[in-house]
Amino acid sequence: MTNTSNRDLKIFAGRSSAGLTERICAHLGMAMGQARTIAFPDGEVLVKLDEDVRGRDCYVVISTCQPVNDNLVELLVYLDCLRRASAARITVVIPYFGYARQDRKDEGRVPITAKLVANLITAAGADRVVALDLHAAQIQGFFDLPVDHLSATPVFIEHFLANKAAMPDLCVVSPDVGNVKVAEGIVNMLGGELAIIHKRRLSGSSVVAQAIIGSVENKTVLMFDDIISTAGTICDAARLLKENGAREIIAAATHPVLVGPAIERLASGAISRLVVTDTIPLGSNVDPIRDRLVVLSVGPLLGEAIRRIHNNQSVSALFKQTAGPKR
Ligand code: R5P
Repeated sequence: MTNTSNRDLKIFAGRSSAGLTERICAHLGMAMGQARTIAFPDGEVLVKLDEDVRGRDCYVVISTCQPVNDNLVELLVYLDCLRRASAARITVVIPYFGYARQDRKDEGRVPITAKLVANLITAAGADRVVALDLHAAQIQGFFDLPVDHLSATPVFIEHFLANKAAMPDLCVVSPDVGNVKVAEGIVNMLGGELAIIHKRRLSGSSVVAQAIIGSVENKTVLMFDDIISTAGTICDAARLLKENGAREIIAAATHPVLVGPAIERLASGAISRLVVTDTIPLGSNVDPIRDRLVVLSVGPLLGEAIRRIHNNQSVSALFKQTAGPKR
């Protein structure tokens, strides 16, 4: 790590993010903070720090992925633990922010859970937040704390620029209108044409891709989304793209949530390559699609952000010439 004193910096990992935190620490050339999360027989958790954090600049990395509620509670317990151990500043690094999709009242008598989670994190003792490709950028404003909202776009762009020769006649496709801005930014950096899919969500796991705005005939299609959850969105989009003459379909998404029918859909679908990041650890359930799966690490990106925050340097400089976060 250049220009940085690691002396007062401590980085801890929640159970969901141990591998990613190792990669962050490898980028920074430092060891991970020593701590344990202990689960009691009834499911309660306790975090025990095995080193002194008094007066230190502390970071805790936890994705609130599956099991979402367990990881969220572990995060809150971590914050309380660091605060009571007299850390000077506590930054929560949330590579994948669960509950982000419940960000507004889209019908009567429902909660805004993204705001509730922001309130909980604040009340538990966070001083600042680092997030990556939030489902909606306005979630930053749900926190009355500094939030650094990073984008994994530079990581994807580096990968696709290195593989550009294998993607002739490129068309970047936004799988829904919410991602158009990101897709436009990708076109600016990779070249090619832009197309947009009009989708209709029927339920939490069922989606219909209804129409394509633009032509994909004989094109190598690159589809970008922030999250692949049940894979309904990208698999039905891929079906429509194939029906409309796409030659090859590559999909990319920051957060591989991959729940419910996702693996079955991807295994039997038209997507030939799936590129995701390590914001969420993948298990053996992805074995049926392993041969077409590429996992890129956001560890160096998050490590660089931590280095800059620790040194009071600009984090936004990390995003020059990228598509930036969604919306
Ligand atoms: C929706 O707005 C998001 O960007 C994703 O397209 C969505 O969360 C993906 O969900 P699924 O994989 O279940 O269709």
